[in-house]
Amino acid sequence: MNTVLVGSQWGDEGKGKIIDFLMESHDAVVRSQGGNNAGHTVEIGSEKFVLHLVPSGILRKGKTCIIGHGTVIDPVSLVKEINGLESRGVKTKGRLFVSDRAHVVMPYHRNLDAGRETAAKGKMIGTTKRGIGPTYGDKIARVGLRTHDLLNIPLMEEKIKERVSEVNQLCRLKGWKTVSAAAIIKEYKAAAAVLKPYICDTIAKIHGLLENKKSMLFEGAQGTFLDIDCGTYPYVTSSNTTSGGACTGSGLPPNAVKNVIGTLKAYTTRVGEGPFATESNLLSDLLHEMGREFGATTGRARRCGWFDAVLVRFATRINGVTELALTNLDGLDQLKEIKLCVAYRLNGKMIHYPPASIEQLARCKPVYKTFKGWQKDTSQCLQFGRLPIEARTYLRAIEEFSGAKLSIISVGPRREQTFFP
Ligand code: GDP
Ligand code: IMO
Ligand code: MG
Repeated sequence: MNTVLVGSQWGDEGKGKIIDFLMESHDAVVRSQGGNNAGHTVEIGSEKFVLHLVPSGILRKGKTCIIGHGTVIDPVSLVKEINGLESRGVKTKGRLFVSDRAHVVMPYHRNLDAGRETAAKGKMIGTTKRGIGPTYGDKIARVGLRTHDLLNIPLMEEKIKERVSEVNQLCRLKGWKTVSAAAIIKEYKAAAAVLKPYICDTIAKIHGLLENKKSMLFEGAQGTFLDIDCGTYPYVTSSNTTSGGACTGSGLPPNAVKNVIGTLKAYTTRVGEGPFATESNLLSDLLHEMGREFGATTGRARRCGWFDAVLVRFATRINGVTELALTNLDGLDQLKEIKLCVAYRLNGKMIHYPPASIEQLARCKPVYKTFKGWQKDTSQCLQFGRLPIEARTYLRAIEEFSGAKLSIISVGPRREQTFFP
């Protein structure tokens, strides 16, 4: 049985934790989009891991882990991640497979990302500066390098020289940092030597698993509202973070997907710029004071707000969500009152979907339903019936307004603080 897991909000919903939890009942895990802009946290006992490109299932012994062709790969960063895992006793050899068709992030992509952000001044996106947008840009413009190029050094050198000369022309014009082809070649040759045993035809690998009736879990990165098409454009990432991306980014046929899990927090967070109708300073201050909601990749403070059911309902529909996995319920434990956005008001009318235009979205006023807080510690409640009645009422409202049933609830960062309601 193959399951696709996506983020139903703006990323950081707790996907890494839920993937780790679900890997017990799956044979393989696949990343299909995004790159090391992702930061997926898994806490097991007293150990904390933050995965960027390696699938979070790597922490389950013996499971197969695949990085599909829809991702973008920074080879130097991937080598660092692999070495970091190996040094903590996590074996990667023979069970981590990297697609030979994935696009390669180059140092000039990172420079372009940073240069564009600085030049955008008041209109910056707030990217992770990992070069993600420029790498996907080169892919679409058909001028990128792919991982199979790392296996043919003379060809890789030729392609790097060609691209560097073109990119440096643009950088000189803009007054941005230029790069040296020779330095990149040296660095990438070394990374290629380490990655060589991992790079292979992952489409064949996935179809082998399908034929052998193995179950795969597709680990989405980012979230629905960071999707390049359906998100809050242009304040989005550059890939399809919605469930379709799992297929196009891996070679999985759509009819092989059985379940789609939408991951969500009991409230909403967003890192980076862009409209956020339910943003709340009260909630941001509370969570930050508790030491929570700082980015796993960049360390930036996440913006926090009330649960937005208008967004989640849209996410449930477009992803074909069959069940919801809710995390961070315990983040709301101290509150006297909890708000849930059930609709938007725009130009005097009630609307129940996010408008395409961010100018309109920025003018949407949330319509709230207010719930009584439970003001009790939920972090040890591992059965639905053990949760305070006010928390159960709030969760039932989330199901009703989001249009899908909760199948997993998480009340703490650790693996064991998770249950099936
Ligand atoms: P991802 O990108 O979707 O994998 O999420 P991140 O790892 O970036 O952010 C989620 C954060 O919430 C991490 O710090 C997790 O350890 C933490 N977390 C996940 N579920 C829970 C939960 O139920 N309660 C608490 N307190 N923390 C959680
Ligand atoms: P995970 O997988 C939250 C955000 C950035 C920025 C926008 C574009 O951990 O949920 P990019 O570097 O991708 O060009 O940045 O997308 N962003 C994320 N926000 N979680 C993520 O990943 C994110 N990956 C990118 O903050 O607003
Ligand atoms: Mg994250």
